[in-house]
Amino acid sequence: MHIHAYEKLWLTLALVLILLLIGTVTYGAVGPGVAMVSDGQDPIDPEALDEDDRFAEPRVERVGENEYAAYVVAEQFQFRPDPIVVPENSRVTFYITSPDVIHGFEVVGTNANTMVIPGEVAEIAVEANEPREYGIVCNEYCGAAHHAMEGKLEVVPEDEYERMNDDGTDDGETDDTDDGETDDTDDGDDGTDQGGDGE
Ligand code: CUA
Repeated sequence: MHIHAYEKLWLTLALVLILLLIGTVTYGAVGPGVAMVSDGQDPIDPEALDEDDRFAEPRVERVGENEYAAYVVAEQFQFRPDPIVVPENSRVTFYITSPDVIHGFEVVGTNANTMVIPGEVAEIAVEANEPREYGIVCNEYCGAAHHAMEGKLEVVPEDEYERMNDDGTDDGETDDTDDGETDDTDDGDDGTDQGGDGE
């Protein structure tokens, strides 16, 4: 059977296109290191984060040589701790949970991006090589101030990190934000009740 030269050319081109298509899809799936977020962590009681070793005090912990674990609480409308500070050339594994509603946790400029679901602990890792600052944003609508919910990941030079950890045992910083939510509204009622009895 005779096939015209142009016919052959188009057949070849079509084949190349098909291979390119398969190639790009394969690269997209494998190349940039996209992976499903691990759901291997046990469920957690979102109303009792205070009683959980990891989240009662959100913090960064050194867990190995150049390995750090960041225990992060995402809540309306902030991330704790903020900023998250780690030294350069380290691998940071984030464990993130939420006490209230679904939030997002995206480290802008990396491929770390996960949903944060009350009752679940999301786990995601970032290689922090160069000293620089990353923004952290919430990308799930979580309420009126969703757009303002942001944090920071600060990757600092090693000597600076050591200095910070030597003189500053400032870990208590986050306590300041815990007040105020419900306590203030409890007063006031008592005073008016007594007045009514006098008639
Ligand atoms: Cu938290 Cu949007």
